[in-house]
Amino acid sequence: MTEVSPGLENVYIKYTALTYIDGNKGIMRYRGYDINELAEKSSFEEVSYLMLFGELPDESELQNFKNQINKNLKLPDYMKNILKELPEKADSLGILQTVLSARSSVESNYKYSEKNDMEIIPEILGNVLSIVANIYRLKSGRDIIDPVPDKNYASTFLRACFDKIDDDKINAMDSALILYMDHEIPASTTSALVTASTLSDMYSSLVSAIAALRGPLHGGAAEGAYKQFLEIKTPENVEPWFNKNIIDDKKRLIGLGHRVYRTYDPRLTSFKKYADKLSTAPDQKNILEIAKRLEALGVKTFSPKGIYTNTDFYSGIVFNAIGFPVDMFTTLFGLSRVSGILAHIIEYVEKQERLIRPRAIYNGYDRRDYKK
Ligand code: CMC
Repeated sequence: MTEVSPGLENVYIKYTALTYIDGNKGIMRYRGYDINELAEKSSFEEVSYLMLFGELPDESELQNFKNQINKNLKLPDYMKNILKELPEKADSLGILQTVLSARSSVESNYKYSEKNDMEIIPEILGNVLSIVANIYRLKSGRDIIDPVPDKNYASTFLRACFDKIDDDKINAMDSALILYMDHEIPASTTSALVTASTLSDMYSSLVSAIAALRGPLHGGAAEGAYKQFLEIKTPENVEPWFNKNIIDDKKRLIGLGHRVYRTYDPRLTSFKKYADKLSTAPDQKNILEIAKRLEALGVKTFSPKGIYTNTDFYSGIVFNAIGFPVDMFTTLFGLSRVSGILAHIIEYVEKQERLIRPRAIYNGYDRRDYKK
């Protein structure tokens, strides 16, 4: 019998050699390498290259890839103008979506091929760095700039955002970019694949992904989790807040639960390490203490159902300690995810291409006679 699988749960739409997840054991690897080891030992560019082209780069491949990205940090004027024209209250991820969408309008004849992909990928990575840095600059009342290449992607990005930045924060950003780079095929990547499967261009496919990322059940969770901590205000208020909101009002505890994991999200190891290291100011320590108490209560209550902490519970604390406000969190997630999404698009379109066109089982009226 044909059955509907709500949420496409347990439906497999592609083979992948990119990300391996064992949701029961809490294991995650990119092309066979443990995610936390990559976050510790590699840079964003190296891991992007690994995901996009199959292996970690040697020195000259890495330098060439970095040079190509750096050549694309200067945005064309029309993109800068759109950035300036959008209203102040515009949502930062919505701005990213809109500017990429404008770019897609001049890429409509894109033909997937290894050669074309090699050219457009560094262009997209350079452009996205610049767009996101400038979204942050405009939101904090500063002018648009062309980011200046620094030692790596993370430092180029943070130096474009902030006047002063230290190495601990650059390392944390670099790791966050790696940890968030890919996660098999969540809603956003699936949206990109649906679009790319029609042979629509890369920018349009990316726009589809960003649109899906915006929802609070997906990319918005880091922001949602952090807002819970702000609402709780003090560590002493964790238990009363939890009892009222989560137990009595049956709200979901944001930052807990996952479609794939039945244990802790493995990326938490690195995020917790950076949250501990960077939360040095009294208000940051306060938030971290709230988070730890809330996590303990949430896990105690929900782990019997297989619900544990996901990465978004702590990533916002890290982003905030680097210097970003809450309304940038989802956009930073978007920035991190771009290479993973592009790697999935290439893997799908060039190796397994088939138009994604599922079916729905009709359960409406039987034939009816037309009457006015
Ligand atoms: N708090 C309380 N109860 C929960 C939670 C939660 N965070 N998550 C799931 N449950 C309960 C849910 O109420 C249901 O209970 P019951 O069986 O008694 O009705 C059961 O667990 C199964 O929930 P589900 O919604 O069927 O599970 P799902 O696989 O569709 O949900 C999820 C996955 C991420 C949407 C959900 O866990 C959730 O809403 N979490 C909070 C939002 C969040 O943190 N999202 C970030 C996900 S990780 C980033 C990403 O990959 O996008």
